[in-house]
Amino acid sequence: MGAVTLTGVRKLFGTMEVIKGIDLAIADRELVVFVGPSGCGKSTLLRMIAGLEDVDYGAIEIAGRDVTELAPALRGVAMVFQNYALYPHMTAYDNMAYGLRRAGLAGAEVDKRVRATAAMLQITELLPRRPKAMSGGQRQRVAIGRAIVRNPEVFMFDEPLSNLDAALRVEMRSQIARLHRELQATMIFVTHDQVEAMTLADRIVVLNGGRIEQVGTPREVYHRPANIFVAGFIGSPAMNLLPANLHRGAALELGWGTRVTWTAAVPALPDNAPVTLGVRPERVSLCDAARAQASGEVTLAEHLGDETILHLKVSDGVSLTVKAGGDVAALVGDRLHVAFDLAGACLFGPDGRRIAPD
Ligand SMILES: Nc1ncnc2c1ncn2[C@@H]1O[C@H](COP(=O)(O)OP(=O)(O)OP(=O)(O)O)[C@@H](O)[C@H]1O
Ligand SMILES: [Mg+2]
Repeated sequence: MGAVTLTGVRKLFGTMEVIKGIDLAIADRELVVFVGPSGCGKSTLLRMIAGLEDVDYGAIEIAGRDVTELAPALRGVAMVFQNYALYPHMTAYDNMAYGLRRAGLAGAEVDKRVRATAAMLQITELLPRRPKAMSGGQRQRVAIGRAIVRNPEVFMFDEPLSNLDAALRVEMRSQIARLHRELQATMIFVTHDQVEAMTLADRIVVLNGGRIEQVGTPREVYHRPANIFVAGFIGSPAMNLLPANLHRGAALELGWGTRVTWTAAVPALPDNAPVTLGVRPERVSLCDAARAQASGEVTLAEHLGDETILHLKVSDGVSLTVKAGGDVAALVGDRLHVAFDLAGACLFGPDGRRIAPD
């Protein structure tokens, strides 16, 4: 049973606290993805779970055992790194066999495991080759194979696909999803790639500055972000976060003076409370001037083929991103009008926490 439980986990480098108290329960066989800005502590947290960094405060349990002080090799975890970290002077076979031999496994058992894993990853023909005679994607599969042969309870991946080109990433992403189903193991996956996070995760953990901002399913963090940070971080292009004031009687006055009606329930706030309206770019649509809730000049038009991402300057300090159809011909400098679909919108209170929908 590869459940992972972190309780009050903290880490300091010198006097700098980089992990500031993490409580997290990862279920057996769950695939959890850590996301967050560069430097927020994703790799450090992963390395602490693997035993490659000491834990200064708190405890880590894997499969019901307290492993906080346990050596990495005894934790039942295997880690796959972004830079593969294969031994350059060893063949793929020996790279995969190395840890098993060191653990004292008999030669026949080592051979059986390496060959079965190679077959599963379709890398049998690579076994006699050294890393320098392989492509990036092939090296990454060998690195994953080296983790699989150890038959760990928990797999950890630190941005394993970020050195691969776009097509290979897509292929490896589906391979990892397939491995997760076949191996029935717990997996913790770090990525900067929104699509990877959304498609692979059972749950996403959003980290920021060494703390957890939210833990939820991909749908939860996308549609019900806990706060402005998560709202702005999850989704690409990012959610529009618009300054507004909420009046009694459900009138929402947007920063540039337009009033819209907010119909969803909100907790009691003082009249005229400063709030933030969060609207995804796909919920902003172009319209004619008569229906406009905002108007602005196009500062950037990204024609992506199937869709067009338009950036509008609405007023000083307020810009809007609009996801429009691929046939929209707007150019920089054009003045456009937009309306909001508030059905899927979020409202954030003065402290930045989501107040609607509940
Ligand atoms: N060995 C170390 N000594 C001192 N500071 C460190 C060390 N390792 C990491 N840090 C610092 O700890 C913080 C968290 O680093 P970490 O590598 O965990 O971030 P990350 O979320 O993985 O970032 P990225 O997305 O860029 O990989 C950073 O401020 C980093 O500079
Ligand atoms: Mg990192």
